[in-house]
Amino acid sequence: MNNDVKQLLLADGQSMPQEGFGLYKITDQSTITSAIKYAYDAGYRLFDTAQLYKNEAEVGNALQELGLPREELFITTKVSEPNQGFKQTIDSVKDSLQKLKLDYVNLLLIHWPIERAFFDTWAALEELKKEGLTRSIGVSNYQMIHLQYLATQAHEMPVINQIERHPHLNQQPLLQYDKEHDIITQAWSPLGRGTILDNPTLNKIAANHHKSAAQVVLRWHLQSGVAFIPKSVHEARIKQNINIYDFTLSDEEMTAINNLNNFTRVGKEPALVYEYNLKY
Ligand SMILES: NC(=O)c1ccc[n+]([C@@H]2O[C@H](COP(=O)([O-])OP(=O)(O)OC[C@H]3O[C@@H](n4cnc5c(N)ncnc54)[C@H](OP(=O)(O)O)[C@@H]3O)[C@@H](O)[C@H]2O)c1
Repeated sequence: MNNDVKQLLLADGQSMPQEGFGLYKITDQSTITSAIKYAYDAGYRLFDTAQLYKNEAEVGNALQELGLPREELFITTKVSEPNQGFKQTIDSVKDSLQKLKLDYVNLLLIHWPIERAFFDTWAALEELKKEGLTRSIGVSNYQMIHLQYLATQAHEMPVINQIERHPHLNQQPLLQYDKEHDIITQAWSPLGRGTILDNPTLNKIAANHHKSAAQVVLRWHLQSGVAFIPKSVHEARIKQNINIYDFTLSDEEMTAINNLNNFTRVGKEPALVYEYNLKY
């Protein structure tokens, strides 16, 4: 285990590694198995999948084949839009667990807020937690208004909000809101899917520290106090992305990166997904 990766205490008493490994767009069995092996050997313990990624079975095969100790792992999956609704959610999560070959996941998220099944899906997550099929429950792509609306009927609130966050979309107001409500923000596409890595400001800061632009961005997430889940299929990058614990960005460097915000998304707009009931 990489002892440098901090464990964050969630509002429900569980703990979660601050840095994890993303598995979106990796579907081929041998690539999944090798990526998870490289990641585990490098010190990642959190693996982030979703029903939408269509790789839960391959992830389950990899975890079994590699014989990774369950108690060391933190596995997240997410309920897709077509599987939302009370009964559909319960059935689909049981199916996810079968594919993953697990008795429980550590974290279950609603992938996107949708109008059609907004409260029923959350009620199903509360039930699945009671049944022990997930240790923690949370949401993804929820904006402040979705969290406020959820609070009108929820028996317990999400402990995680997984949102798009990178230097072009730093999400400062939502980070603040999550923090004030005991919700940990977890950044998806923390590297902006690679689109931001040729930015001159990032590369200048990287040169100051003899690090790559990707390492600077991940260090920025770390020092911003959020959790983050970079994805790569390449061993050298997987190692590089967790080798961020031996340098510190100055306040000026943090400000310079915060100032790169230009509200550009690499993913979808949550308000529209909510309205369309589907990631369009
Ligand atoms: N909740 C949601 O709605 C949602 C949405 C999107 C993503 N996610 C989660 O967040 C995870 C991460 O997001 P993401 O996969 O979209 O994007 P990301 O982690 O920001 O970026 C991944 C891209 O950057 C490249 N890359 C990785 N490390 C690099 C490095 N050190 N130097 C240069 N390029 C590098 C990767 O290429 P190679 O693989 O070729 O190295 C890949 O093209 C996903 O895998 C998924 O688990 C969640």
